Amino acid sequence: MATPGEFSFDTIQNFDSHIELSIPNYVNLRESVLRVATHFITENALVYDLGCSTGVLLAKIRLNAPSTARLVGIDRSDNLLGKSLSAGVTLINDDLTREDLTLDPCELCLSLFTLQFLPIDVRKRLIDTVYDALKPGGALIVAEKQYIDDGYIQDLFTFSHYDMKLEHFTAEEILEKQLSLRRIMRPQSEEQNRQLLGRFRSVTPIWQFLQFKAWLCIK
Ligand SMILES: C[S@@+](CC[C@H](N)C(=O)[O-])C[C@H]1O[C@@H](n2cnc3c(N)ncnc32)[C@H](O)[C@@H]1O
Repeated sequence: MATPGEFSFDTIQNFDSHIELSIPNYVNLRESVLRVATHFITENALVYDLGCSTGVLLAKIRLNAPSTARLVGIDRSDNLLGKSLSAGVTLINDDLTREDLTLDPCELCLSLFTLQFLPIDVRKRLIDTVYDALKPGGALIVAEKQYIDDGYIQDLFTFSHYDMKLEHFTAEEILEKQLSLRRIMRPQSEEQNRQLLGRFRSVTPIWQFLQFKAWLCIK
């Protein structure tokens, strides 16, 4: 089998349905995030989605958020941002790894399966930027694919995930995706992610399925 080209968010088609089929119970995760998010979105609140892709999460938040709340998505893929249909959501093309990236004072930041695509050495800087921008009592909701320290469980989770993907993709497509991601996606262990989020007053899991996990981090 020829080695496939590198995976790119700049060319992928039908991204929203692709991620829903690739991450088990993704729709249920989104539902959990939407419910938890409502606790932080007050009148005039500022909400960021870092690595927002098409802006679909913010579009769903828009439906129930106060009209004065400002919803801002940041992503560097024009291919994904261009697919957004959401009114009342501002989408910005920017690179989250930019050294001088700043965020305005905000109530809530979301980051679902984005940190794992950033170079490991810049994740801390981005989390520091988020932490400094959040108002006291504000929150970061973050989801990541993570590695399990126990090799047997890691293997078991990986192949359970493949079993689920086989319902929507061929074995060849699954392997090709894994090969194409190897240089651009770098999940970390739970312990490493906990360290990354260590400045927050509380870090509480709100969702998990196999090696995919989300936390509510309160400043
Ligand atoms: C796996 S997708 C997740 C998208 C969305 N959060 C979701 O859950 O559907 C990762 C997103 O991060 C974006 N991304 C990756 N690296 C980025 C960077 N350096 N700056 C901005 N966005 C980035 C990609 O373009 C992509 O939209």
